[in-house]
Amino acid sequence: MSGWLDGYVALVTGGGSGIGRAVAERYLAEGAAVTVLGRDLDQLEEVVRSSADPSRMHAVEADVRSSAQLHEAVAQTVERFGKLDVLVANAGVWDFQRQLTRLSADELEATFDELFSINVKGYLLSVEAAWRELVKTRGSIVMTLSNASFHVNGGGPVYTASKHACLGLMRELAYELAPKVRVNGVACGGMNTDLRGPEALAMNDRSIAASFAKKGPDTPPPPIPLHDSSTDPRDFTGPYVLLASREQSGPMTGEAISIDGGVGVRGFARAAGGDHL
Ligand SMILES: NC(=O)c1ccc[n+]([C@@H]2O[C@H](COP(=O)([O-])OP(=O)(O)OC[C@H]3O[C@@H](n4cnc5c(N)ncnc54)[C@H](O)[C@@H]3O)[C@@H](O)[C@H]2O)c1
Repeated sequence: MSGWLDGYVALVTGGGSGIGRAVAERYLAEGAAVTVLGRDLDQLEEVVRSSADPSRMHAVEADVRSSAQLHEAVAQTVERFGKLDVLVANAGVWDFQRQLTRLSADELEATFDELFSINVKGYLLSVEAAWRELVKTRGSIVMTLSNASFHVNGGGPVYTASKHACLGLMRELAYELAPKVRVNGVACGGMNTDLRGPEALAMNDRSIAASFAKKGPDTPPPPIPLHDSSTDPRDFTGPYVLLASREQSGPMTGEAISIDGGVGVRGFARAAGGDHL
């Protein structure tokens, strides 16, 4: 084995699908042992079974809103693999860009409570459960952020606020856990995953994958400079490897790497200035 994460041990929340699964598989390929945590044990066990080396993967059913279940997941990881080097805080839900003016007061309240308790409290509780083990290994935390951590309309107000909050969490915790534990983020753009909506809006059976599937040859490209780049989550895993590795990013903390097709450099008249090239 000669990967960037040889001998590392990682815990990935929301590791049963999407970018969490892609990161878990990539970490495995880079030499790490990985616990995948999520709400659906059958799905997680399938990830382990179909992986390149099931002996270096472990599945734990847990809800990131439960501190006790997160502590149990950390304990199982350390029992199984001996330590914890990397926490990937990733489990999340989306609001399908539902605007404030299209929510009743009751819907808004319930959506806020559910989304913030998964997307924001879930990250905080995951870090609380893991930091003691990460101090022992001088490990690191990688948080999945979003284009919605910086820009508007990647979500509605509730999702955008939750991802801005995660950016703040990442920066505050980078300060609080230094110098022993590094904390960084990967701000992903649109990926074709199984991202779901909140139960509060009866959107928990709706997946972002359906929006990608609906797109036909006449659909205009996304209004970002790299509008023909991949939406496969496996193509977004590089920054997660970089940030997990002490050797490759040891002096780096409190930073977010955007991997979003260039949302921050889009043009006014045309998203990409080089379409004619
Ligand atoms: N798909 C995108 O376009 C996109 C863009 C930017 C950021 N993100 C972020 O990426 C992260 C992963 O999402 P994804 O797109 O891979 O979607 P996904 O649904 O495929 O993955 C999210 C995983 O989290 C799990 N999960 C949800 N709630 C949970 C809970 N309470 N406890 C435990 N597990 C829970 C889900 O079961 C799922 O396996 C999220 O934080 C999301 O906000 C996604």
